[in-house]
Amino acid sequence: MKNEELKIKNYARGPRPVAVDKKNSIAVRPMGYEQLEAAAMLERVCFSRPWSLGQLAGAMEDPLIVLLAAVGEDESLCGYVGMYRIDGEGFIANLGVDPGCRRQGVASALLQALEATALREKLFRLTLEVRRSNAAAITLYEKNGYVSDGVRPGFYEDPVEDAVIFSRYFEGSIDGQ
Ligand SMILES: CC(C)(COP(=O)(O)OP(=O)(O)OC[C@H]1O[C@@H](n2cnc3c(N)ncnc32)[C@H](O)[C@@H]1OP(=O)(O)O)[C@@H](O)C(=O)NCCC(=O)NCCS
Repeated sequence: MKNEELKIKNYARGPRPVAVDKKNSIAVRPMGYEQLEAAAMLERVCFSRPWSLGQLAGAMEDPLIVLLAAVGEDESLCGYVGMYRIDGEGFIANLGVDPGCRRQGVASALLQALEATALREKLFRLTLEVRRSNAAAITLYEKNGYVSDGVRPGFYEDPVEDAVIFSRYFEGSIDGQ
């Protein structure tokens, strides 16, 4: 699938498809219990310290956490994103895309759907940490309007590495003007 063919639409309006092309349709919507096992597998593929199935199930029950899933036409999980709401801002805790679904705009669609949630809930910014060496994610965030706020030296373990902090401020917030 060519990225230019991907059309992002309707992401602010709930469970209808948000990212569509003629051959492949992806919908972003709140994660369901039926996607938890696939999400736990994806955690293990994506991260050195993955969330367990139990942690993901706990997150589903936590009113402070938003979990969004990107699913294909066959209901398979292509990717997901998790965000904590804390004191009027959103912290993106995890964002992962199945290796077979990458470079097709899935992470971008998830971020855009999360931003629609943040705007609806009047959060003043979204923020996150990313490994300094994770060029793919850093490019993704920069392309989606996130700017670097600083570095947390030696923040990550397995292996030890600096974290770069990125934020996206929303219009009307102190820094978003
Ligand atoms: C980082 C990640 C989420 C990107 O997901 P994705 O669905 O492939 O991202 P998108 O298709 O929306 O990419 C949007 C843009 O980001 C950049 N990008 C994404 N992956 C890239 C890569 N491997 N190399 C360079 N740039 C990349 C590109 O600019 C891309 O646009 P393009 O394809 O038109 O060039 C995915 O690679 C992943 O799950 N990685 C492992 C987990 C991880 O690192 N999560 C982030 C933790 S903070």
